[in-house]
Amino acid sequence: MAKEKTTAFFCKECGYESAKWMGQCPACRAWNTFVEEPAGRKESPSGKMRPVKRAVPARLEDISVEESDRDSTGYQELDRVLGGGVVPGSLVLVGGDPGIGKSTLLLQVCRNLAAAGRKVLYISGEESLRQIKLRANRIGSAPGNLLFLCETSLDSIQETIMEVKPQVVIIDSIQTMYREEISSAPGSVSQVRESTNLLMQIAKGQGITIFIVGHVTKEGVVAGPRVLEHMVDTVLYFEGDRHASYRILRGVKNRFGSTNEIGVFEMREQGLAEVENPSEFMLDGRPEGASGAVVACAMEGTRPILLEVQALVTQSNLGIPRRTAAGTDYNRVNLLMAVLEKRCHYEMPRYDAYVNIAGGMKMNEPALDLAIVLALVSSLKDRPVDEKTIVFGEVGLSGEVRAVSMAEQRVSEAVKLGFTCCILPQICLDKMKHTDRIRLVGVRNVREAIAVL
Ligand code: TYD
Ligand code: MG
Repeated sequence: MAKEKTTAFFCKECGYESAKWMGQCPACRAWNTFVEEPAGRKESPSGKMRPVKRAVPARLEDISVEESDRDSTGYQELDRVLGGGVVPGSLVLVGGDPGIGKSTLLLQVCRNLAAAGRKVLYISGEESLRQIKLRANRIGSAPGNLLFLCETSLDSIQETIMEVKPQVVIIDSIQTMYREEISSAPGSVSQVRESTNLLMQIAKGQGITIFIVGHVTKEGVVAGPRVLEHMVDTVLYFEGDRHASYRILRGVKNRFGSTNEIGVFEMREQGLAEVENPSEFMLDGRPEGASGAVVACAMEGTRPILLEVQALVTQSNLGIPRRTAAGTDYNRVNLLMAVLEKRCHYEMPRYDAYVNIAGGMKMNEPALDLAIVLALVSSLKDRPVDEKTIVFGEVGLSGEVRAVSMAEQRVSEAVKLGFTCCILPQICLDKMKHTDRIRLVGVRNVREAIAVL
C-alpha cells in the first residue's frame, strides 16, 4: 500500500498549496517561495469546525445598517484610515516590521475603547503579563474592563472569548498562534491561514471586532501576512524609519472605506502621539538658503503633505556617474535627469547626483517630479531656491509639465503653512480660482520652470 503523503508545499506569499515543489508560484507568480510543511489535520475534520447556527438568506432591504455603528478609536488619525472608526464584527490586520510600535498602538487603542465603555480582551502570545504591564505603565493607566491574556492556542482562545464575551479582541501576533489540529509549527503558512480562518468565524459569528497583529519579515522565515490579506476586512501597514520618531499608518485594503488614507503618529517616551499637521513636522529644522532644496506638495489620500526634496549634484570622478535616490523611485530620478539632459542641455553624465526626501518619508507620487528637477538644477548651479516657494507637477518625457490632481488642496496647504509662491502646471492654474493669498506661477515645461527660479 502506498504511504500516505504527510507534507505539502505552500507558497509563502499567497498560501497556494501544491503537492510538489515549484520554482514559481502559479497563483501569484512569485519565485522561490515554496516551503515544505506538514499537511493536513491531526484528526479528521469534525463537526467542530462548522458554525453552530445555520445562516438564513435575507433580503437586501431587511438587512439593517446603522452608520453610527462605528466606534471611535480615540485617535482621529486611526479613525480616518479605518474609514471613520471601527466597524463592529470586522477583522483588521495591522502589519509592520518588528519593533515599529504595533503593540503600543493597539494597547493605546484598547485603553481608549475600554474607557469608552467597551469590553476589550488583549491576547498576547509574545509578551508576558508583566511585560504588558510595564508597557502600559509607560503609556498611562488602563481602566477596568480591559482584560489581558497570555495564550497561544487558538482553541482555548476561542473558548475564552465565548466565556468572556468581549466586544473587541486583539491578537498579538498571528505568527505566535496555533491550532491544535494542524500539525505544522506556529507561524507556518497553514497555521497562519487556519488561525485567521477561525478568527474570521469568531468575528463574523459573534460580531466581535478583532485586530490581528502580523509581523512582516524581509526574507520571510515566517509566513508574511500576505496570506492573510485576502481574508481580513481591513489591512493596515504601520511603517516608518526606526531611527526617525514618526510612524505612518497606511490603509492597503479596506472593505469599509477608502484605502489611500494615512495616519501619522510620533513615537514618544509615553507611547504614540498623533501628528495632526504632518507638513509642519516634515519641514521642521529646514536649512535656510541652501541650494538643492525644494519644498514639494504630495498627496496622501485626501491629505496634502509638504515635504522637502533635496538634491546634491557634484562633479563625477568615475566613468559611470553615481546616482542614488532615497525616499523616492531611483528609476524616476534617472528619467528626470535624462529629461534635463535632452531638453535643457545640461551635461548630466559629468555629474554624480543624490536625491533625498528629507525626514525619511517615502513618496513616489509623480507630482514630485518638478520639485526633483528644480532641486537638481538648483544644486547644479549652486543657487538656492526661495524658501517660501513650493513646487508640484508631473514631468513628461518631452519636458512638458503635466497636470496633477487636487491642485487646490495642495495650494491651500501651502497657504496654511505660510508659503508665498507656488510653481504649478499651467493647466492646473487655468482651472483654478484666482487667489491673492499666494503668488501662483503656471509653467508649461521644465525650461519655463527653471527660468522662473
Ligand atoms: P512595540 O509596540 O513593542 O513594537 P511591535 O509590537 O511592532 O513589535 O514597540 C516597541 C518600540 O517602541 C521599542 O523600540 C520602544 C518603543 N517605545 C517607545 O519609544 N515609547 C513607548 O512608550 C513605548 C511603549 C515603546
Ligand atoms: Mg509587539
